[in-house]
Amino acid sequence: MAVENKETTLSRAQIVAKHREFLLPSIGSHYQDPLPFVSGKGFRLTDSEGREYLDFFGGIVTVSVGHCDEEITERTIAQMRKLQHTSTLFPIEAQAKLAERLASLTPGRLKKSFFTNSGSEADEKAIQLAQAHTGRRTIVALRHCYSGGTPGVQTVTAHSPWRIGEPNAFPVAHAKNAYCYRCPFGKTPSSCSLECAKDLEEVIQTTTSGEIAAFIAEPIQGVGGFITPPADYFKEAVAIARKYGGLFIADEVQTGFGRTGGKWFGIEQYGVEPDLMTGAKGMANGLPIGWVITNDEVATALNGKVHLNTFGGNPISSTAALATLDAMESRDLPGNAKRVGGYFRLRLEELAEKHALIGDVRGMGLMQALELVKDRKTKEPAKQELQRVVEAARENGLVIGKGGLHGNVIRMTPPMTISLAEVDEAIGALDAAFTQVK
Ligand SMILES: Cc1ncc(COP(=O)(O)O)c(C=O)c1O
Repeated sequence: MAVENKETTLSRAQIVAKHREFLLPSIGSHYQDPLPFVSGKGFRLTDSEGREYLDFFGGIVTVSVGHCDEEITERTIAQMRKLQHTSTLFPIEAQAKLAERLASLTPGRLKKSFFTNSGSEADEKAIQLAQAHTGRRTIVALRHCYSGGTPGVQTVTAHSPWRIGEPNAFPVAHAKNAYCYRCPFGKTPSSCSLECAKDLEEVIQTTTSGEIAAFIAEPIQGVGGFITPPADYFKEAVAIARKYGGLFIADEVQTGFGRTGGKWFGIEQYGVEPDLMTGAKGMANGLPIGWVITNDEVATALNGKVHLNTFGGNPISSTAALATLDAMESRDLPGNAKRVGGYFRLRLEELAEKHALIGDVRGMGLMQALELVKDRKTKEPAKQELQRVVEAARENGLVIGKGGLHGNVIRMTPPMTISLAEVDEAIGALDAAFTQVK
Protein backbone atom coordinates (compact mmCIF):
# COMPACT_ATOMS: atom_id res chain seq x y z
CA MET A 1 0.00 0.00 0.00
CA ALA A 2 1.49 3.35 -1.03
CA VAL A 3 1.37 5.81 1.87
CA GLU A 4 1.43 9.53 1.31
CA ASN A 5 4.43 11.19 2.98
CA LYS A 6 2.83 14.04 4.88
CA GLU A 7 6.12 15.24 6.34
CA THR A 8 7.74 16.88 3.30
CA THR A 9 5.19 19.43 2.19
CA LEU A 10 6.71 22.60 3.71
CA SER A 11 8.85 25.07 1.79
CA ARG A 12 12.41 25.70 2.92
CA ALA A 13 11.45 29.06 4.44
CA GLN A 14 8.61 27.43 6.38
CA ILE A 15 10.86 24.66 7.73
CA VAL A 16 13.47 27.19 8.86
CA ALA A 17 10.83 29.47 10.41
CA LYS A 18 9.28 26.61 12.40
CA HIS A 19 12.72 25.42 13.47
CA ARG A 20 13.55 28.92 14.71
CA GLU A 21 10.27 29.34 16.54
CA PHE A 22 9.94 25.95 18.24
CA LEU A 23 13.45 24.61 18.88
CA LEU A 24 15.93 25.79 21.47
CA PRO A 25 17.86 28.78 20.10
CA SER A 26 21.12 27.23 21.35
CA ILE A 27 20.90 24.60 18.60
CA GLY A 28 23.43 25.95 16.15
CA SER A 29 23.17 26.13 12.38
CA HIS A 30 25.94 24.68 10.25
CA TYR A 31 25.46 27.37 7.60
CA GLN A 32 24.67 31.07 7.98
CA ASP A 33 21.56 30.43 5.93
CA PRO A 34 20.15 27.18 7.41
CA LEU A 35 19.84 24.31 4.94
CA PRO A 36 17.16 21.66 5.48
CA PHE A 37 17.68 18.47 3.51
CA VAL A 38 14.56 16.60 2.53
CA SER A 39 15.89 13.39 1.00
CA GLY A 40 19.04 11.35 0.61
CA LYS A 41 20.27 8.44 -1.47
CA GLY A 42 23.70 6.87 -1.17
CA PHE A 43 26.21 9.68 -0.75
CA ARG A 44 23.86 12.40 -2.12
CA LEU A 45 21.52 14.70 -0.21
CA THR A 46 18.77 16.82 -1.74
CA ASP A 47 17.45 20.09 -0.33
CA SER A 48 13.86 21.33 -0.41
CA GLU A 49 14.50 23.13 -3.70
CA GLY A 50 15.71 19.98 -5.43
CA ARG A 51 19.40 20.84 -5.35
CA GLU A 52 21.80 17.90 -4.85
CA TYR A 53 24.87 17.80 -2.62
CA LEU A 54 27.67 15.29 -2.22
CA ASP A 55 27.64 14.40 1.47
CA PHE A 56 31.13 14.29 2.97
CA PHE A 57 29.95 14.55 6.56
CA GLY A 58 27.48 11.62 6.66
CA GLY A 59 25.18 13.03 9.35
CA ILE A 60 28.16 13.52 11.70
CA VAL A 61 29.73 10.10 11.07
CA THR A 62 26.44 8.21 11.25
CA VAL A 63 25.48 7.30 7.71
CA SER A 64 28.20 4.71 7.18
CA VAL A 65 26.55 2.74 4.36
CA GLY A 66 24.91 5.67 2.56
CA HIS A 67 21.53 7.37 2.88
CA CYS A 68 18.39 5.22 2.68
CA ASP A 69 20.28 2.06 1.77
CA GLU A 70 17.75 -0.39 0.22
CA GLU A 71 18.82 -3.46 2.17
CA ILE A 72 18.98 -1.75 5.58
CA THR A 73 15.74 0.14 5.00
CA GLU A 74 13.79 -2.95 3.89
CA ARG A 75 15.00 -5.09 6.79
CA THR A 76 14.19 -2.31 9.27
CA ILE A 77 10.69 -1.84 7.81
CA ALA A 78 10.11 -5.62 7.99
CA GLN A 79 10.99 -5.50 11.70
CA MET A 80 8.68 -2.49 12.21
CA ARG A 81 5.85 -4.57 10.77
CA LYS A 82 6.68 -7.52 13.03
CA LEU A 83 7.49 -6.05 16.48
CA GLN A 84 8.48 -2.51 17.42
CA HIS A 85 9.07 -2.45 21.12
CA THR A 86 8.96 -4.39 24.38
CA SER A 87 11.76 -2.76 26.51
CA THR A 88 14.94 -4.35 27.78
CA LEU A 89 12.98 -6.22 30.50
CA PHE A 90 12.31 -8.90 27.88
CA PRO A 91 14.97 -10.62 25.76
CA ILE A 92 14.90 -9.19 22.22
CA GLU A 93 15.94 -11.51 19.39
CA ALA A 94 17.63 -8.86 17.25
CA GLN A 95 19.43 -7.41 20.26
CA ALA A 96 20.79 -10.81 21.36
CA LYS A 97 22.01 -11.52 17.82
CA LEU A 98 23.59 -8.08 17.65
CA ALA A 99 25.38 -8.60 20.97
CA GLU A 100 26.77 -11.94 19.73
CA ARG A 101 27.93 -10.31 16.50
CA LEU A 102 29.63 -7.45 18.35
CA ALA A 103 31.40 -9.90 20.67
CA SER A 104 32.87 -11.55 17.56
CA LEU A 105 33.93 -8.25 15.92
CA THR A 106 35.48 -6.51 18.93
CA PRO A 107 39.07 -7.28 19.97
CA GLY A 108 40.20 -9.63 22.73
CA ARG A 109 37.94 -10.59 25.60
CA LEU A 110 35.21 -8.01 25.05
CA LYS A 111 31.99 -9.98 25.14
CA LYS A 112 29.08 -8.60 27.20
CA SER A 113 27.05 -5.71 25.80
CA PHE A 114 24.56 -3.14 27.06
CA PHE A 115 22.58 -1.04 24.59
CA THR A 116 21.53 2.59 24.85
CA ASN A 117 20.16 5.20 22.44
CA SER A 118 23.16 7.49 22.16
CA GLY A 119 26.90 7.80 22.59
CA SER A 120 26.50 9.94 25.71
CA GLU A 121 24.51 7.26 27.48
CA ALA A 122 27.00 4.60 26.36
CA ASP A 123 29.94 6.57 27.77
CA GLU A 124 28.00 7.23 30.99
CA LYS A 125 27.37 3.50 31.37
CA ALA A 126 31.00 2.60 30.64
CA ILE A 127 32.16 5.03 33.33
CA GLN A 128 29.56 3.71 35.78
CA LEU A 129 30.75 0.12 35.13
CA ALA A 130 34.41 1.09 35.59
CA GLN A 131 33.65 2.97 38.81
CA ALA A 132 31.59 0.09 40.22
CA HIS A 133 34.21 -2.50 39.24
CA THR A 134 37.18 -0.63 40.73
CA GLY A 135 35.33 0.94 43.67
CA ARG A 136 36.89 4.28 42.70
CA ARG A 137 35.43 7.39 41.10
CA THR A 138 38.26 9.30 39.45
CA ILE A 139 38.41 9.28 35.67
CA VAL A 140 41.37 10.38 33.57
CA ALA A 141 40.52 11.86 30.19
CA LEU A 142 42.32 13.90 27.56
CA ARG A 143 42.18 17.59 26.82
CA HIS A 144 40.18 18.39 23.67
CA CYS A 145 38.02 15.26 24.14
CA TYR A 146 34.26 15.18 23.61
CA SER A 147 32.21 12.54 25.40
CA GLY A 148 28.65 13.84 25.07
CA GLY A 149 25.95 16.11 26.43
CA THR A 150 24.71 14.48 29.68
CA PRO A 151 26.12 15.60 33.06
CA GLY A 152 28.64 12.78 33.63
CA VAL A 153 30.19 12.91 30.19
CA GLN A 154 30.02 16.71 30.16
CA THR A 155 32.34 16.52 33.18
CA VAL A 156 34.69 14.42 31.05
CA THR A 157 34.46 16.64 27.95
CA ALA A 158 37.46 18.96 27.73
CA HIS A 159 36.44 21.34 25.00
CA SER A 160 35.01 24.65 26.30
CA PRO A 161 32.61 25.43 23.39
CA TRP A 162 30.87 22.11 24.13
CA ARG A 163 30.94 22.29 27.96
CA ILE A 164 27.81 23.82 29.44
CA GLY A 165 28.03 25.42 32.87
CA GLU A 166 30.53 23.84 35.18
CA PRO A 167 29.78 20.12 35.05
CA ASN A 168 31.06 18.34 38.13
CA ALA A 169 29.56 14.85 38.32
CA PHE A 170 32.70 13.06 39.58
CA PRO A 171 36.43 13.81 39.74
CA VAL A 172 38.08 14.00 36.32
CA ALA A 173 41.76 14.72 35.67
CA HIS A 174 42.67 15.82 32.14
CA ALA A 175 46.04 14.86 30.70
CA LYS A 176 47.54 16.59 27.67
CA ASN A 177 46.53 15.04 24.38
CA ALA A 178 48.61 13.86 21.44
CA TYR A 179 48.02 16.98 19.37
CA CYS A 180 51.13 16.60 17.21
CA TYR A 181 50.41 19.65 15.02
CA ARG A 182 50.33 21.83 18.15
CA CYS A 183 52.42 19.60 20.40
CA PRO A 184 51.78 20.70 24.00
CA PHE A 185 55.44 19.89 24.73
CA GLY A 186 56.85 21.76 21.74
CA LYS A 187 58.21 18.54 20.19
CA THR A 188 58.34 17.48 16.56
CA PRO A 189 57.79 13.90 15.33
CA SER A 190 61.58 13.37 15.20
CA SER A 191 62.18 14.66 18.76
CA CYS A 192 59.07 13.09 20.32
CA SER A 193 59.40 10.64 23.19
CA LEU A 194 55.67 10.38 23.77
CA GLU A 195 55.76 13.10 26.43
CA CYS A 196 51.97 13.41 26.08
CA ALA A 197 51.39 9.75 27.01
CA LYS A 198 53.81 10.11 29.92
CA ASP A 199 51.85 13.17 31.10
CA LEU A 200 49.19 10.73 32.32
CA GLU A 201 51.54 9.56 35.03
CA GLU A 202 52.24 13.04 36.35
CA VAL A 203 48.56 13.95 36.19
CA ILE A 204 47.62 10.83 38.17
CA GLN A 205 50.40 11.38 40.71
CA THR A 206 49.72 15.08 41.24
CA THR A 207 45.99 15.61 40.73
CA THR A 208 44.41 12.36 41.98
CA SER A 209 44.79 10.15 45.05
CA GLY A 210 47.01 7.95 42.92
CA GLU A 211 44.26 5.46 42.23
CA ILE A 212 41.87 5.84 39.33
CA ALA A 213 38.76 4.10 38.03
CA ALA A 214 39.44 4.52 34.32
CA PHE A 215 41.19 6.25 31.49
CA ILE A 216 38.73 7.14 28.72
CA ALA A 217 39.91 8.23 25.28
CA GLU A 218 38.82 8.43 21.67
CA PRO A 219 41.34 6.62 19.42
CA ILE A 220 41.09 9.72 17.21
CA GLN A 221 39.53 12.80 18.83
CA GLY A 222 36.45 13.55 16.76
CA VAL A 223 34.93 16.87 17.84
CA GLY A 224 38.49 17.92 18.78
CA GLY A 225 39.28 17.95 15.03
CA PHE A 226 40.42 14.39 14.20
CA ILE A 227 43.50 14.67 16.39
CA THR A 228 45.35 11.46 15.61
CA PRO A 229 47.88 10.14 18.16
CA PRO A 230 51.20 8.60 17.07
CA ALA A 231 51.40 4.81 16.62
CA ASP A 232 52.72 3.96 20.12
CA TYR A 233 50.66 6.48 22.08
CA PHE A 234 47.99 4.13 23.41
CA LYS A 235 50.41 1.35 24.40
CA GLU A 236 52.24 3.83 26.62
CA ALA A 237 49.22 5.72 27.98
CA VAL A 238 47.10 2.62 28.72
CA ALA A 239 50.02 0.91 30.51
CA ILE A 240 50.30 3.96 32.80
CA ALA A 241 46.54 4.03 33.48
CA ARG A 242 46.61 0.31 34.35
CA LYS A 243 49.63 0.79 36.64
CA TYR A 244 47.38 3.06 38.76
CA GLY A 245 44.52 0.57 38.75
CA GLY A 246 42.46 2.17 35.97
CA LEU A 247 40.47 0.35 33.30
CA PHE A 248 40.76 1.56 29.73
CA ILE A 249 37.58 2.74 27.98
CA ALA A 250 37.96 3.20 24.22
CA ASP A 251 35.30 5.65 23.03
CA GLU A 252 34.65 4.42 19.49
CA VAL A 253 31.58 6.58 18.92
CA GLN A 254 33.23 8.23 15.89
CA THR A 255 36.07 5.82 15.08
CA GLY A 256 34.15 2.53 15.26
CA PHE A 257 32.75 0.30 12.55
CA GLY A 258 35.40 0.48 9.86
CA ARG A 259 35.73 4.25 9.75
CA THR A 260 39.51 4.34 10.28
CA GLY A 261 40.07 1.85 7.45
CA GLY A 262 41.06 -1.83 7.37
CA LYS A 263 40.00 -2.59 10.96
CA TRP A 264 36.61 -2.60 12.66
CA PHE A 265 37.67 -0.33 15.52
CA GLY A 266 40.04 2.61 15.79
CA ILE A 267 41.84 1.25 18.83
CA GLU A 268 42.90 -1.81 16.80
CA GLN A 269 45.10 0.53 14.77
CA TYR A 270 47.06 0.98 18.02
CA GLY A 271 47.24 -2.69 19.06
CA VAL A 272 45.67 -2.20 22.49
CA GLU A 273 42.81 -4.22 24.00
CA PRO A 274 40.36 -2.04 25.94
CA ASP A 275 38.51 -3.17 29.07
CA LEU A 276 35.42 -1.38 27.85
CA MET A 277 34.46 0.00 24.47
CA THR A 278 31.60 2.31 23.51
CA GLY A 279 29.99 2.94 20.15
CA ALA A 280 26.99 4.71 18.61
CA LYS A 281 26.77 7.00 15.54
CA GLY A 282 27.63 4.79 12.52
CA MET A 283 26.52 1.42 13.85
CA ALA A 284 22.91 1.51 12.59
CA ASN A 285 23.40 3.80 9.57
CA GLY A 286 21.52 6.70 11.18
CA LEU A 287 19.04 4.98 13.49
CA PRO A 288 19.55 5.81 17.17
CA ILE A 289 21.57 3.25 19.07
CA GLY A 290 24.46 3.34 21.53
CA TRP A 291 26.40 0.49 23.06
CA VAL A 292 28.99 -0.47 25.62
CA ILE A 293 30.82 -3.79 25.64
CA THR A 294 33.12 -5.21 28.29
CA ASN A 295 34.78 -8.42 29.44
CA ASP A 296 33.26 -11.07 31.74
CA GLU A 297 34.81 -9.67 34.94
CA VAL A 298 33.78 -6.04 34.54
CA ALA A 299 30.34 -7.12 33.28
CA THR A 300 29.32 -8.28 36.76
CA ALA A 301 30.08 -4.89 38.36
CA LEU A 302 26.47 -3.73 38.47
CA ASN A 303 24.98 -7.07 39.57
CA GLY A 304 22.32 -6.68 42.23
CA LYS A 305 21.00 -3.46 40.70
CA VAL A 306 18.20 -3.26 38.16
CA HIS A 307 19.67 -1.96 35.02
CA LEU A 308 17.26 -0.60 32.46
CA ASN A 309 17.30 1.45 29.30
CA THR A 310 13.74 1.62 28.01
CA PHE A 311 14.52 2.02 24.31
CA GLY A 312 18.15 0.86 24.27
CA GLY A 313 18.74 -1.76 21.58
CA ASN A 314 15.04 -1.95 20.71
CA PRO A 315 14.02 -4.38 17.93
CA ILE A 316 14.09 -1.69 15.22
CA SER A 317 17.48 -0.13 16.01
CA SER A 318 19.03 -3.55 16.64
CA THR A 319 17.73 -4.86 13.31
CA ALA A 320 19.06 -1.76 11.55
CA ALA A 321 22.43 -2.33 13.24
CA LEU A 322 22.52 -5.99 12.17
CA ALA A 323 21.63 -5.00 8.60
CA THR A 324 24.31 -2.27 8.70
CA LEU A 325 26.97 -4.73 9.87
CA ASP A 326 25.91 -7.23 7.17
CA ALA A 327 26.20 -4.51 4.52
CA MET A 328 29.59 -3.43 5.86
CA GLU A 329 30.85 -7.01 5.80
CA SER A 330 29.46 -8.07 2.44
CA ARG A 331 30.69 -4.86 0.77
CA ASP A 332 33.97 -4.82 2.71
CA LEU A 333 33.47 -1.23 3.81
CA PRO A 334 36.39 -1.23 6.29
CA GLY A 335 38.57 -2.26 3.31
CA ASN A 336 36.98 0.39 1.11
CA ALA A 337 37.59 3.01 3.82
CA LYS A 338 41.26 2.06 3.75
CA ARG A 339 41.62 2.06 -0.05
CA VAL A 340 39.51 5.11 -0.85
CA GLY A 341 40.63 6.87 2.35
CA GLY A 342 44.27 6.42 1.29
CA TYR A 343 43.54 8.04 -2.06
CA PHE A 344 41.52 10.81 -0.38
CA ARG A 345 44.46 11.55 1.90
CA LEU A 346 46.87 11.87 -1.04
CA ARG A 347 44.51 14.24 -2.80
CA LEU A 348 44.11 16.34 0.37
CA GLU A 349 47.88 16.57 0.71
CA GLU A 350 48.05 17.82 -2.90
CA LEU A 351 45.43 20.42 -1.97
CA ALA A 352 47.54 21.49 1.01
CA GLU A 353 50.48 22.13 -1.33
CA LYS A 354 48.31 24.49 -3.32
CA HIS A 355 46.43 26.39 -0.59
CA ALA A 356 48.42 28.12 2.18
CA LEU A 357 45.32 28.21 4.41
CA ILE A 358 45.72 24.48 5.05
CA GLY A 359 48.14 24.00 7.95
CA ASP A 360 47.67 20.30 8.62
CA VAL A 361 46.12 17.23 7.00
CA ARG A 362 45.34 14.38 9.39
CA GLY A 363 43.12 11.41 10.17
CA MET A 364 42.81 7.79 9.11
CA GLY A 365 40.73 5.96 6.52
CA LEU A 366 37.58 7.90 5.70
CA MET A 367 37.98 10.20 8.69
CA GLN A 368 40.12 13.03 7.34
CA ALA A 369 40.59 16.61 8.49
CA LEU A 370 42.18 19.86 7.36
CA GLU A 371 43.26 22.35 10.03
CA LEU A 372 43.12 25.89 8.66
CA VAL A 373 45.57 28.58 9.79
CA LYS A 374 46.05 32.23 8.85
CA ASP A 375 49.81 31.71 8.75
CA ARG A 376 51.69 28.42 8.63
CA LYS A 377 54.45 29.74 10.92
CA THR A 378 52.30 31.22 13.71
CA LYS A 379 49.54 28.61 13.20
CA GLU A 380 46.95 31.22 14.16
CA PRO A 381 43.57 29.46 13.79
CA ALA A 382 41.56 30.58 10.72
CA LYS A 383 38.00 30.27 12.03
CA GLN A 384 36.27 32.88 9.84
CA GLU A 385 38.08 31.60 6.76
CA LEU A 386 36.91 28.09 7.62
CA GLN A 387 33.29 29.20 7.69
CA ARG A 388 33.78 30.84 4.29
CA VAL A 389 35.28 27.63 2.87
CA VAL A 390 32.38 25.59 4.29
CA GLU A 391 29.85 28.04 2.73
CA ALA A 392 31.70 28.05 -0.61
CA ALA A 393 31.82 24.23 -0.60
CA ARG A 394 28.06 24.25 -0.10
CA GLU A 395 27.69 26.52 -3.13
CA ASN A 396 29.83 23.99 -5.04
CA GLY A 397 27.51 21.15 -3.95
CA LEU A 398 29.65 19.63 -1.19
CA VAL A 399 28.71 19.17 2.48
CA ILE A 400 31.66 19.08 4.91
CA GLY A 401 31.90 19.23 8.70
CA LYS A 402 33.56 21.60 11.16
CA GLY A 403 35.36 21.01 14.43
CA GLY A 404 38.37 21.70 16.61
CA LEU A 405 38.67 23.73 19.81
CA HIS A 406 39.15 26.91 17.77
CA GLY A 407 36.54 26.00 15.14
CA ASN A 408 39.20 25.91 12.42
CA VAL A 409 39.16 22.24 11.40
CA ILE A 410 37.29 20.84 8.40
CA ARG A 411 36.09 17.32 9.22
CA MET A 412 35.21 14.88 6.47
CA THR A 413 33.53 11.51 7.04
CA PRO A 414 31.61 10.51 3.90
CA PRO A 415 29.55 7.32 3.74
CA MET A 416 32.10 4.49 3.45
CA THR A 417 30.52 3.38 0.17
CA ILE A 418 32.16 6.19 -1.81
CA SER A 419 34.60 5.46 -4.64
CA LEU A 420 37.57 7.32 -6.08
CA ALA A 421 35.20 9.24 -8.39
CA GLU A 422 33.43 10.88 -5.43
CA VAL A 423 36.80 11.74 -3.88
CA ASP A 424 37.78 13.49 -7.12
CA GLU A 425 34.44 15.31 -7.16
CA ALA A 426 34.88 16.45 -3.53
CA ILE A 427 38.47 17.56 -4.14
CA GLY A 428 37.28 19.61 -7.15
CA ALA A 429 34.63 21.33 -5.01
CA LEU A 430 37.11 21.95 -2.16
CA ASP A 431 39.78 23.27 -4.50
CA ALA A 432 37.28 25.73 -5.95
CA ALA A 433 36.13 26.72 -2.43
CA PHE A 434 39.68 27.42 -1.24
CA THR A 435 40.38 29.40 -4.41
CA GLN A 436 37.21 31.49 -3.80
CA VAL A 437 38.19 32.23 -0.18
CA LYS A 438 41.83 33.13 -0.87
C1 LIG B 1 33.56 10.52 20.66
C2 LIG B 1 32.15 10.82 21.07
N1 LIG B 1 31.67 10.27 22.19
C3 LIG B 1 30.40 10.48 22.58
C4 LIG B 1 29.55 11.29 21.85
C5 LIG B 1 28.14 11.51 22.29
O1 LIG B 1 27.27 10.86 21.42
P1 LIG B 1 25.73 11.31 21.29
O2 LIG B 1 25.70 12.64 20.63
O3 LIG B 1 25.12 10.21 20.46
O4 LIG B 1 25.18 11.32 22.67
C6 LIG B 1 30.01 11.88 20.67
C7 LIG B 1 29.15 12.76 19.86
O5 LIG B 1 29.57 13.46 18.98
C8 LIG B 1 31.35 11.65 20.28
O6 LIG B 1 31.85 12.20 19.18
